[in-house]
Amino acid sequence: MSESGEGNWTYADYLNLHPLLDLQGEDREINSDEMHFIIVHQTFELWFKQVIRELSEVRDILSQIPVPEDQIPKAVDHLGRTTEIFRLMANQWTVLETLTPQGFLAFRDGLGTASGFESFQMREFEFLLGLENEDRIGGVDPLDSFRRMPDNDVNKAVIKRLEEAAGNPSLYDSVMGWIARTPIMGSTPGNEGDAEVVSQYVSDHLSAHKALCKEAAERSSGWGTDDSSKAAERMMAAHDGAASFLMPGGDVDRARAGLLFIESYRELPLLTWPRKLIDALVELEESMVKWRHAHARMVERIMGRRIGTGGTSGVDYLDMTSRYRIFKDLWGIRTVLVKPQRRPALQNAEFYGYSSDS
Ligand code: HEM
Repeated sequence: MSESGEGNWTYADYLNLHPLLDLQGEDREINSDEMHFIIVHQTFELWFKQVIRELSEVRDILSQIPVPEDQIPKAVDHLGRTTEIFRLMANQWTVLETLTPQGFLAFRDGLGTASGFESFQMREFEFLLGLENEDRIGGVDPLDSFRRMPDNDVNKAVIKRLEEAAGNPSLYDSVMGWIARTPIMGSTPGNEGDAEVVSQYVSDHLSAHKALCKEAAERSSGWGTDDSSKAAERMMAAHDGAASFLMPGGDVDRARAGLLFIESYRELPLLTWPRKLIDALVELEESMVKWRHAHARMVERIMGRRIGTGGTSGVDYLDMTSRYRIFKDLWGIRTVLVKPQRRPALQNAEFYGYSSDS
């Protein structure tokens, strides 16, 4: 064993391999199906540990005011690694799919009520990302199920950890706080007249959006739908949706206006890193959704529509979780964009690294 941490390790000592390889339940004389079931779960939990590390770093970078610009590429790198981990985990379900329904049933009763539902690391990264309890199925607080577990030191430590994660600022809140400070048409919050500039921009965007919806409604033939007037109504309702998204309660939401600006003028040099960061967050959430979806398909294949060991409806519950969206506004903004030819003319182009307004 190394004494000082300066080399002199053996491979096994550095990786703590001996204790690690003692934890797969062989002392219970399990068969290879069950050992594989345990190892797959353990590898997921190891990756969850890394996911929490990566995401905490991103949250810490983005919750600074102001965010040091030279740290944004680092945040994007952490997000990229997390996405790759989810992609790897989404593919890992295929290893579990080598378990036959009968092979699973042979040891399933031995699990009792143990279920992935109790994965405290999963709940921790959901809190860290910013999944709200009211957006969970049944609006439940995941901490409730941990509070019902036996009252011992280990469970108390888990609850404390989760309470901290739930109480800390989430990655989503930090991102939106940062986006709210985006310069719009050259104006930053705190500048004199910022509210007017932003409100003019949003209003110009909404005018373009309305005109495009109207044109689309006029073009609507009704093919593929019940009748053309209904399709036209839907187009106009889409405009009302865009207006209430950008101006909830009648007032401009500066964070959503900032998002709109970044997505609309993606090519501006100054917006390169903000848009890369937003893309990385969307890509991460997409990889998580696919991972959740692939879990449900694996479960359907192995145990059909049985009730889960955690007591949920099983596959139906898992399918509903794949509808969760944490970075809601990052998804929502896509619905309200207009084609580049019709976006409001850019002002103060030099501020964004362009030589003239366009
Ligand atoms: C044969 C293998 C598996 C089956 C049949 C299965 C089945 C289920 C079911 C039915 C649920 C819903 C909760 C319940 O009622 O129990 C669930 C939840 C969950 N499982 Fe699995 N699972 C399997 C493997 C895994 C593995 C390897 C992991 C990796 C850690 C995992 C992680 C999770 C997580 C995190 C949840 C909670 C999802 C949420 O509430 O959002 N599962 N699983």
